[in-house]
Amino acid sequence: MPDRSSSSAAAEALDPRILSRLAGGLAHELKNPLSTIGLHLDLLREQWADDPDPKARRSVRMIDTLKQEVGRLDEILQDFLLYARTDQIELEEADLNAVVQRVADFVRPEAAARGIRVETFLAGDLPPLRLDPARFRQVVLNLVINARQAIGDRGGRITLITRRQGGRVLLEVLDDGPGMDEETLASCFEVYFSRKKGGSGLGLPTVRRLVEAHGGSVEIQSSPGHGTRVRVTLPLPPAGGRS
Ligand SMILES: Nc1ncnc2c1ncn2[C@@H]1O[C@H](COP(=O)(O)OP(=O)(O)OP(=O)(O)O)[C@@H](O)[C@H]1O
Ligand SMILES: [Mg+2]
Repeated sequence: MPDRSSSSAAAEALDPRILSRLAGGLAHELKNPLSTIGLHLDLLREQWADDPDPKARRSVRMIDTLKQEVGRLDEILQDFLLYARTDQIELEEADLNAVVQRVADFVRPEAAARGIRVETFLAGDLPPLRLDPARFRQVVLNLVINARQAIGDRGGRITLITRRQGGRVLLEVLDDGPGMDEETLASCFEVYFSRKKGGSGLGLPTVRRLVEAHGGSVEIQSSPGHGTRVRVTLPLPPAGGRS
């Protein structure tokens, strides 16, 4: 017989909301000392910068390495906070199309410079949804960045579609990149799973957590050579309700 008291204690200890608050708080606390270290490294570098002495040159190189590592740590914390802080979303009536359009406009120039077309097909009949626009922007941005990275420098197309379907709203992000093999597709939502050099592997887990915090769901269709389709499904607000 399983021991009820100890299993409920274990369940309590692993309450994901508490864990995410603790971890998020820790990551947040680490940011200030980290930026102080970065600032002091800048000051140190200034002191050595014009000194021709070989020892000074070596010090400057070491400081540059340290600065790079501080930058990397900062990125890790940033990604982690985005993942952990899904308990802090604030839903309001917002226009999904506007969020999608803004992300498309934001990434289009850089994508165009690499031969990637970013197209939007946005439904004209979407009512305002219950969204946290800033956090939902992160969802769309993560998906578009993944699409962009998958296409790489070969050129291609990223398509963003919104559509009303029954009592729900669909957002689809399609790319004509290389697609995912079965193993990647099966693991891509796992925390820290990444096939990219320098990838944190928190992009899709963050997308899923944020979408679920909006009452929605995410699924991916992908196969090698056929590109990738990410489908986010969101609930419509209750009929007639401005709840
Ligand atoms: N559009 C896509 N096409 C092909 N593979 C993809 C696509 N999106 C995600 N993947 C695969 O899923 C993995 C996990 O994606 P995820 O966004 O979680 O992490 P990442 O992109 O590797 O790192 P990060 O988003 O933190 O920079 C990627 O490394 C990649 O292998
Ligand atoms: Mg990613």
